[in-house]
Amino acid sequence: MRQSQVTYWCHEILRSQVSAGGCYIDATMGKGNDTLMLCRLAGEAGKVLAFDIQKEALQMTERLLLEHGVRERAELILDGHEHMERYAGKESADAICFNFGYLPGGDHRIATSAESSMEAVRKGLEILKRGGMMSLCLYSGGDTGFEEKRKILELLKELPAREYTVIVNSYYNRENCPPTPVFVFKDP
Ligand SMILES: C[S@@+](CC[C@H](N)C(=O)[O-])C[C@H]1O[C@@H](n2cnc3c(N)ncnc32)[C@H](O)[C@@H]1O
Repeated sequence: MRQSQVTYWCHEILRSQVSAGGCYIDATMGKGNDTLMLCRLAGEAGKVLAFDIQKEALQMTERLLLEHGVRERAELILDGHEHMERYAGKESADAICFNFGYLPGGDHRIATSAESSMEAVRKGLEILKRGGMMSLCLYSGGDTGFEEKRKILELLKELPAREYTVIVNSYYNRENCPPTPVFVFKDP
Protein backbone atom coordinates (compact mmCIF):
# COMPACT_ATOMS: atom_id res chain seq x y z
CA MET A 1 0.00 0.00 0.00
CA ARG A 2 1.47 3.40 -0.97
CA GLN A 3 2.11 5.76 1.93
CA SER A 4 0.17 8.53 0.18
CA GLN A 5 -2.99 6.41 -0.13
CA VAL A 6 -5.98 7.46 1.96
CA THR A 7 -6.55 3.93 3.28
CA TYR A 8 -2.91 3.76 4.39
CA TRP A 9 -3.42 6.80 6.64
CA CYS A 10 -6.71 5.56 8.02
CA HIS A 11 -5.12 2.20 8.87
CA GLU A 12 -2.05 3.85 10.44
CA ILE A 13 -4.15 6.09 12.68
CA LEU A 14 -6.50 3.28 13.69
CA ARG A 15 -3.57 1.01 14.56
CA SER A 16 -1.90 3.74 16.58
CA GLN A 17 -5.01 4.62 18.61
CA VAL A 18 -6.90 1.37 19.16
CA SER A 19 -5.77 -1.65 21.13
CA ALA A 20 -6.44 -5.34 20.50
CA GLY A 21 -9.11 -7.61 21.94
CA GLY A 22 -12.17 -5.38 21.44
CA CYS A 23 -15.04 -5.03 19.01
CA TYR A 24 -14.52 -3.30 15.66
CA ILE A 25 -16.90 -2.46 12.83
CA ASP A 26 -16.16 -2.20 9.12
CA ALA A 27 -19.23 -0.32 7.87
CA THR A 28 -18.34 -0.74 4.18
CA MET A 29 -16.72 -4.12 3.57
CA GLY A 30 -16.05 -3.90 -0.19
CA LYS A 31 -13.08 -6.10 -1.13
CA GLY A 32 -12.27 -6.70 2.52
CA ASN A 33 -9.02 -4.76 2.93
CA ASP A 34 -10.33 -2.76 5.88
CA THR A 35 -11.96 -5.86 7.39
CA LEU A 36 -8.62 -7.67 7.17
CA MET A 37 -6.80 -4.80 8.88
CA LEU A 38 -9.42 -4.75 11.66
CA CYS A 39 -9.19 -8.55 12.09
CA ARG A 40 -5.44 -8.24 12.51
CA LEU A 41 -5.91 -5.38 14.95
CA ALA A 42 -8.55 -7.37 16.85
CA GLY A 43 -6.17 -10.25 17.54
CA GLU A 44 -7.45 -13.65 18.64
CA ALA A 45 -9.58 -12.23 21.44
CA GLY A 46 -11.31 -9.51 19.42
CA LYS A 47 -14.17 -9.55 16.93
CA VAL A 48 -15.13 -7.65 13.80
CA LEU A 49 -18.57 -6.94 12.35
CA ALA A 50 -18.43 -6.07 8.65
CA PHE A 51 -21.33 -4.78 6.53
CA ASP A 52 -22.05 -4.57 2.82
CA ILE A 53 -25.17 -4.68 0.68
CA GLN A 54 -23.48 -6.71 -2.10
CA LYS A 55 -23.02 -10.49 -1.94
CA GLU A 56 -19.97 -10.09 -4.15
CA ALA A 57 -18.29 -8.01 -1.42
CA LEU A 58 -18.97 -10.68 1.20
CA GLN A 59 -17.55 -13.39 -1.07
CA MET A 60 -14.38 -11.42 -1.82
CA THR A 61 -13.90 -10.55 1.83
CA GLU A 62 -14.45 -14.13 2.94
CA ARG A 63 -11.76 -15.32 0.51
CA LEU A 64 -9.32 -12.66 1.71
CA LEU A 65 -9.85 -13.46 5.39
CA LEU A 66 -9.47 -17.21 4.74
CA GLU A 67 -6.24 -16.59 2.82
CA HIS A 68 -4.86 -14.73 5.83
CA GLY A 69 -6.14 -17.18 8.44
CA VAL A 70 -8.40 -14.72 10.29
CA ARG A 71 -11.86 -15.71 9.00
CA GLU A 72 -13.13 -16.71 12.46
CA ARG A 73 -12.58 -13.19 13.83
CA ALA A 74 -15.23 -11.59 11.59
CA GLU A 75 -18.97 -11.74 11.17
CA LEU A 76 -19.79 -10.78 7.56
CA ILE A 77 -23.23 -9.19 7.39
CA LEU A 78 -25.26 -8.73 4.21
CA ASP A 79 -27.12 -5.63 5.33
CA GLY A 80 -26.87 -1.85 5.08
CA HIS A 81 -24.71 -0.08 7.67
CA GLU A 82 -27.71 2.14 8.45
CA HIS A 83 -29.03 -0.92 10.35
CA MET A 84 -25.89 -1.53 12.39
CA GLU A 85 -27.73 -1.00 15.69
CA ARG A 86 -29.44 -4.38 15.03
CA TYR A 87 -26.07 -6.09 15.44
CA ALA A 88 -24.14 -3.97 17.97
CA GLY A 89 -25.21 -2.39 21.25
CA LYS A 90 -24.71 1.18 22.41
CA GLU A 91 -21.09 2.01 23.31
CA SER A 92 -19.90 -1.48 22.34
CA ALA A 93 -17.37 -0.73 19.56
CA ASP A 94 -13.77 0.38 19.97
CA ALA A 95 -13.45 1.49 16.34
CA ILE A 96 -15.68 1.96 13.31
CA CYS A 97 -14.33 2.32 9.81
CA PHE A 98 -16.23 3.88 6.87
CA ASN A 99 -14.85 3.88 3.32
CA PHE A 100 -17.67 5.38 1.27
CA GLY A 101 -18.40 5.03 -2.44
CA TYR A 102 -18.66 2.02 -4.75
CA LEU A 103 -16.99 -1.38 -4.94
CA PRO A 104 -13.74 -0.90 -6.90
CA GLY A 105 -14.13 -2.77 -10.18
CA GLY A 106 -17.87 -3.24 -9.51
CA ASP A 107 -21.06 -1.44 -10.54
CA HIS A 108 -20.59 2.27 -9.78
CA ARG A 109 -24.37 2.70 -9.45
CA ILE A 110 -24.36 0.55 -6.27
CA ALA A 111 -22.74 3.01 -3.91
CA THR A 112 -23.22 4.60 -0.52
CA SER A 113 -25.66 7.50 -0.50
CA ALA A 114 -25.96 10.70 1.51
CA GLU A 115 -29.08 9.84 3.53
CA SER A 116 -28.20 6.26 4.51
CA SER A 117 -24.55 7.19 5.17
CA MET A 118 -25.63 9.97 7.53
CA GLU A 119 -27.96 7.61 9.34
CA ALA A 120 -25.12 5.08 9.64
CA VAL A 121 -22.66 7.67 10.96
CA ARG A 122 -25.21 8.87 13.56
CA LYS A 123 -25.85 5.29 14.69
CA GLY A 124 -22.13 4.53 14.64
CA LEU A 125 -21.46 7.42 17.00
CA GLU A 126 -23.92 5.91 19.49
CA ILE A 127 -22.38 2.45 19.11
CA LEU A 128 -18.86 3.79 19.59
CA LYS A 129 -17.41 3.31 23.10
CA ARG A 130 -16.18 6.35 25.01
CA GLY A 131 -12.50 6.53 24.14
CA GLY A 132 -13.17 4.86 20.79
CA MET A 133 -12.63 6.26 17.30
CA MET A 134 -14.23 6.35 13.88
CA SER A 135 -12.34 6.75 10.62
CA LEU A 136 -14.08 7.94 7.47
CA CYS A 137 -12.71 8.07 3.90
CA LEU A 138 -14.87 10.59 2.06
CA TYR A 139 -14.90 10.83 -1.72
CA SER A 140 -16.44 13.33 -4.12
CA GLY A 141 -16.67 14.15 -7.80
CA GLY A 142 -17.20 11.74 -10.70
CA ASP A 143 -19.95 9.14 -10.17
CA THR A 144 -20.00 9.94 -6.43
CA GLY A 145 -21.05 13.58 -6.64
CA PHE A 146 -20.59 16.03 -3.76
CA GLU A 147 -23.73 15.68 -1.63
CA GLU A 148 -22.63 12.76 0.56
CA LYS A 149 -19.31 14.35 1.53
CA ARG A 150 -20.91 17.76 2.14
CA LYS A 151 -23.68 16.36 4.34
CA ILE A 152 -21.40 14.14 6.40
CA LEU A 153 -19.00 17.03 7.03
CA GLU A 154 -21.97 19.21 8.06
CA LEU A 155 -23.14 16.53 10.48
CA LEU A 156 -19.66 16.14 12.01
CA LYS A 157 -19.25 19.90 12.42
CA GLU A 158 -22.32 19.95 14.68
CA LEU A 159 -20.95 17.36 17.12
CA PRO A 160 -20.45 18.84 20.60
CA ALA A 161 -16.76 19.60 21.21
CA ARG A 162 -17.10 18.46 24.84
CA GLU A 163 -17.83 14.91 23.66
CA TYR A 164 -16.04 14.51 20.34
CA THR A 165 -12.87 15.61 18.60
CA VAL A 166 -13.23 15.72 14.81
CA ILE A 167 -10.11 15.98 12.63
CA VAL A 168 -10.60 16.60 8.90
CA ASN A 169 -7.48 16.14 6.74
CA SER A 170 -6.82 17.19 3.17
CA TYR A 171 -4.53 16.29 0.28
CA TYR A 172 -3.72 19.96 0.08
CA ASN A 173 -1.78 20.14 -3.18
CA ARG A 174 -3.72 17.47 -5.12
CA GLU A 175 -6.15 18.36 -7.93
CA ASN A 176 -9.36 16.66 -9.06
CA CYS A 177 -11.33 16.06 -5.87
CA PRO A 178 -8.88 14.06 -3.75
CA PRO A 179 -10.32 11.89 -0.94
CA THR A 180 -10.73 13.36 2.54
CA PRO A 181 -9.62 11.25 5.52
CA VAL A 182 -11.56 12.14 8.68
CA PHE A 183 -11.06 10.90 12.25
CA VAL A 184 -13.61 11.23 15.03
CA PHE A 185 -12.58 10.56 18.62
CA LYS A 186 -15.25 10.05 21.26
CA ASP A 187 -13.94 11.44 24.49
CA PRO A 188 -13.61 9.00 27.43
C1 LIG B 1 -15.22 1.95 -1.44
S1 LIG B 1 -16.03 0.42 -1.13
C2 LIG B 1 -15.32 -0.09 0.37
C3 LIG B 1 -13.90 -0.55 0.27
C4 LIG B 1 -13.53 -1.58 1.30
N1 LIG B 1 -13.63 -1.12 2.66
C5 LIG B 1 -12.24 -2.30 1.02
O1 LIG B 1 -11.40 -2.40 1.93
O2 LIG B 1 -12.08 -2.80 -0.09
C6 LIG B 1 -17.67 0.88 -0.63
C7 LIG B 1 -18.58 -0.29 -0.35
O3 LIG B 1 -19.74 0.20 0.31
C8 LIG B 1 -20.80 -0.66 -0.01
N2 LIG B 1 -22.10 -0.05 0.34
C9 LIG B 1 -22.90 0.77 -0.38
N3 LIG B 1 -23.99 1.10 0.33
C10 LIG B 1 -23.88 0.48 1.54
C11 LIG B 1 -24.69 0.43 2.71
N4 LIG B 1 -25.85 1.09 2.79
N5 LIG B 1 -24.26 -0.32 3.74
C12 LIG B 1 -23.09 -1.00 3.69
N6 LIG B 1 -22.28 -1.00 2.61
C13 LIG B 1 -22.66 -0.25 1.55
C14 LIG B 1 -20.61 -0.89 -1.50
O4 LIG B 1 -21.30 -2.05 -1.90
C15 LIG B 1 -19.08 -1.02 -1.59
O5 LIG B 1 -18.69 -2.36 -1.56
